[in-house]
Amino acid sequence: MFKSLSIFAALAVVVVHRDQILNLRLALAQKDISGLQDTVYGVSTPGSSRYGQYLSKEELSTVEAYVAPTNDTVSQVNAWLASNNLTSSPMTSAGDWIAVNMTVSQANQLFAADFSTFQNVDTNQTVHRTLSYSISNTLRASIKAVHPTTTFPAARGLKQSSSVANTNAHATTTKAAPPSSSASTNKQRPIEALYGIPATPPTPAANVFAVAGFENDFANVRDVQAFLRTFRSDLDPNTTFALISVDDGINNQLPAGAGPLTVNMALAAGLTNGIPLAFISTGTVDNDIFSEFLDEANFLVSSPNPPQTIVQTGPFRESLVSPEIAESLCNSYAQIAARGISYIMDTGLWGAGGPFLDPNCTPFDAPFPATCPFVTAVGGTEWTSDDTAEAAWSLSGGGFSRIFSRPKYQDEVVPAYLNAIGATTSSPFNISGRGIPDLAAMTQATFIDQGVIFTDEAGTDNSATIFASMIALLTNERIAAGKPGLGFLNPLIYQNKGTFNDMQAAIGESTACQGVFYNGTAGWDPVTGFGSPSYTRLQEICNKL
Ligand SMILES: *[C@@H]1O[C@H](CO)[C@@H](O)[C@H](O)[C@H]1NC(C)=O
Ligand SMILES: *[C@@H]1O[C@H](CO)[C@@H](O)[C@H](O)[C@H]1NC(C)=O
Ligand SMILES: *[C@@H]1O[C@H](CO)[C@@H](O)[C@H](O)[C@H]1NC(C)=O
Ligand SMILES: *[C@@H]1O[C@H](CO)[C@@H](O)[C@H](O)[C@H]1NC(C)=O
Ligand SMILES: *[C@@H]1O[C@H](CO)[C@@H](O)[C@H](O)[C@H]1NC(C)=O
Ligand SMILES: *[C@@H]1O[C@H](CO)[C@@H](O)[C@H](O)[C@H]1NC(C)=O
Ligand SMILES: *[C@@H]1O[C@H](CO)[C@@H](O)[C@H](O)[C@H]1NC(C)=O
Repeated sequence: MFKSLSIFAALAVVVVHRDQILNLRLALAQKDISGLQDTVYGVSTPGSSRYGQYLSKEELSTVEAYVAPTNDTVSQVNAWLASNNLTSSPMTSAGDWIAVNMTVSQANQLFAADFSTFQNVDTNQTVHRTLSYSISNTLRASIKAVHPTTTFPAARGLKQSSSVANTNAHATTTKAAPPSSSASTNKQRPIEALYGIPATPPTPAANVFAVAGFENDFANVRDVQAFLRTFRSDLDPNTTFALISVDDGINNQLPAGAGPLTVNMALAAGLTNGIPLAFISTGTVDNDIFSEFLDEANFLVSSPNPPQTIVQTGPFRESLVSPEIAESLCNSYAQIAARGISYIMDTGLWGAGGPFLDPNCTPFDAPFPATCPFVTAVGGTEWTSDDTAEAAWSLSGGGFSRIFSRPKYQDEVVPAYLNAIGATTSSPFNISGRGIPDLAAMTQATFIDQGVIFTDEAGTDNSATIFASMIALLTNERIAAGKPGLGFLNPLIYQNKGTFNDMQAAIGESTACQGVFYNGTAGWDPVTGFGSPSYTRLQEICNKL
């Protein structure tokens, strides 16, 4: 039995149409996930004989062979569909996700469900969902999950410093004077100085760096160009980005409501000195962000020439997604890793346990999908109050997954942390789970919104974009030198943990929930991971690969 884990206080049941057609997706059992994971670690772990041998478009069938359902699974599911007069269409080229349309009454009968129409009382948005469902004993080994069923539209982690962060001494919003003399430049250029990021355009430009957006979020081209003219007048002021559209995603340039991803795209453009940029825009599907994540990830898996570096921001509470869907999505990120893509996510304005989204922190949640072990999770740092040094951001998201167990690459550092703080199985977080973040970077950045300059806006979306920009530049150097890109970064990061600027000295803890917080410690901790990156030190490591 699968039960809804969501909070639906804000939802009212309105009507139930038994003939309403549901567009359901079924996750079929994948053949050999450990084979896929072995391949990912083989091609991503420096020192392995397969390091850098990412699977090309021509070798996609190797990836698909791991995740495809077995013939027995396919025949059993097809026979069951046929006996119910239903048809399916594959949603991935491996066939591990299939789409099936059926009426509410059929779905209720086949999955012991009770689909209703729920309306959000604030937005009037309606969705068809059930509070529970089950898969019959005979099919349970073949069908892992049905979606969307028990997963409700979720509130996203806050991305930009808003009222919460503004109580922090540092997160101020100022309408700045012209850049040459203002403090705003002070905050843009030091990111390059702080991390040693080169300011000269890479030659030749050899890769693509993409910002991923969902639900038709967009990046405003005019503001990105204004940002470059203002802060990077040495770069092409007409820089733009390619649109990669998934689920009919658009790049809406409406003047009202500046694109929420403008700051990410402007930082990406300003820090990567002319590397071609792309914006992956995924449209709205069934009012369900997790379907959109799945569609984007599966699109990238089978894309002939996917961008080599991708940044995605805006996490959700992990408890809002069913473990089956979370695992399936994470398997898609593992396939992305096998293709040699560096997928980088932020951990949000979150603190310990996620008090800004649920003051009770029940459960004590970590930000998802950053908890997937096959993506790189970036937390936050900030300037000290005298603007002279970098310190941990107390709002930085971090914690431990309740769905994903600790990956091997964390087997030394995470237990060391747990021992240091005296964590036990009765701690409110899951001591056997994947710990995040992996590292951290500056949250404070300057941006331009509808022509107005804002400084010191803090968010881990900035952190993730800054780190991803560094990876895009390093990847460019490697590809231009005829070497493979950097792919899935975590094995490399954990082999070179001493490379990062450890933030423990400057901090105490992350924002508490119910009195529980994470201490910053020497080495890895769930506030800033290993600390912040240095371009030159990462470059030395990459040169030796
Ligand atoms: C599974 O089915 C495919 C296509 O029908 C066939 O080529 C393949 O040999 C089958 N594999 C097994 C293990 O039966
Ligand atoms: C499937 O369709 C056939 C022919 O229209 C009908 O006789 C049968 O009852 C249907 N079966 C189900 C399970 O709906
Ligand atoms: C399900 O319905 C949608 C329209 O809502 C349609 O586009 C799609 O092709 C249908 N899929 C199947 C498998 O019948
Ligand atoms: C929701 O619907 C009610 C009743 O039709 C209406 O008064 C209200 O303005 C709507 N709210 C929104 C956010 O559209
Ligand atoms: C940027 O575009 C404008 C308008 O098309 C053009 O006048 C200008 O020369 C371009 N600048 C550069 C550096 O290409
Ligand atoms: C801890 O994580 C593991 C996965 O590693 C999971 O199986 C287990 O249920 C989680 N425990 C709690 C208490 O959440
Ligand atoms: C964690 O931090 C708190 C408050 O700073 C301190 O009292 C406690 O001793 C620390 N625990 C460890 C194990 O460092």
